[in-house]
Amino acid sequence: MTEFPMLSQPIPNEWERNGLPGWCYHSQALFDLERQKVFLTHWQVVGHENDVPAPGDWITFDLLGERAVIMRGQDGVVRAFHNLCRHRGARVVDGEAGHCKGAIVCPFHGWVYNLDGSLRGASQPATFGTLDRKAFGLKPVEMEIFHGFVFIRFHPGPQPAIADLLAPYAADFAAYRGKDLVPVATPDWSVDLPVNWKSVRDVDNEGYHVPLAHPSLQELYGRDYRDIYLPRGLHVSVGYFGDKPGRSWSVRNYVKHAPRQDHLPPHLQRAWTYYGLFPNIVFAFTPEGAQFYHDLPLAPGLTRLTGKVYRQPHEDRQQRLARYLAMRIDRDTSAEDQQLSIWSNESMKSSAFEGFHLSDLEWGLRRHHDGLRRLLPVMTLTAPPPEDTMAKRNAEMLGQNN
Ligand code: FES
Repeated sequence: MTEFPMLSQPIPNEWERNGLPGWCYHSQALFDLERQKVFLTHWQVVGHENDVPAPGDWITFDLLGERAVIMRGQDGVVRAFHNLCRHRGARVVDGEAGHCKGAIVCPFHGWVYNLDGSLRGASQPATFGTLDRKAFGLKPVEMEIFHGFVFIRFHPGPQPAIADLLAPYAADFAAYRGKDLVPVATPDWSVDLPVNWKSVRDVDNEGYHVPLAHPSLQELYGRDYRDIYLPRGLHVSVGYFGDKPGRSWSVRNYVKHAPRQDHLPPHLQRAWTYYGLFPNIVFAFTPEGAQFYHDLPLAPGLTRLTGKVYRQPHEDRQQRLARYLAMRIDRDTSAEDQQLSIWSNESMKSSAFEGFHLSDLEWGLRRHHDGLRRLLPVMTLTAPPPEDTMAKRNAEMLGQNN
């Protein structure tokens, strides 16, 4: 078994093996609190700086009523703004990605912004009396870049700067040449699943289900799999392939054709690694490529699973083949997980559901729940408070905990 240099925090000998109560997966009032306390105040990955290689290139990111545009300016600097015109709030760019030639022109009435977000001018400016252009630039969104990946945060929150937060991942992201990655020229994948976002995380946060639920992954790395728990909501899962050929077409050919990547350190050469970030982000690296995926809540019972796929800028035919085979395996795994999420989520409406009873191999799930409980202690209640008192009750419990 290859040694992975990161040391895992130990799992307690005794711990409460239950999960969140079922009501937490269906409450609109709790969902509204999650919006404020979990999603808008924690870092979200939105893409890679190579998604916007040229001045005027942009990508967008929407989350729970907030919307951002990430754009490279004429000076080569990547910035994030609210995608919201200062005149009447229209989206200044529409779509997932695009290019503005020299300026951003709002499609509603034609206000023009420079690529750095400053207001160049209103259309028919004399009709506004005196208009202070400096006061009407696009509003910036907090943004940081980590080995090429772009993170934004809509509101200040409890997490530190992204470089500090993800410092344990820095050596591996550098080894994978994260900064050089380029997007794969296919549409970003996206699927809307009729489940609460936590049901998706509950499946993804543990490897206990892999032997039964993911035959291809089990063939690929079998028992040579481990979870590494790090402080501040970081979690690495790693599986090593190559000790047996595999029966399925994708696994057999992947193991056979995956080229040796000499630039990688030994612990990453035959590894599939997953680097998690609370509350909803995973970076998945194989020796040939990378992707990130995240679960974006749309409603208490509706979640968008989406992500972006990247490759090394110069890849030969064998690397491309290995990446294709890896994506085939990954596509099957994702479909299998989606079904498990649906079953788990719907079970919580059943009169027979009495909560989870978790294995040590599901400690990652429990850690995620604990992270949520710290932000929203109302989740410790076995019965839901009335919806119209949820926020007040949570504030009271936070006050008692502090
Ligand atoms: S809303 Fe943008 S110009 Fe009017």
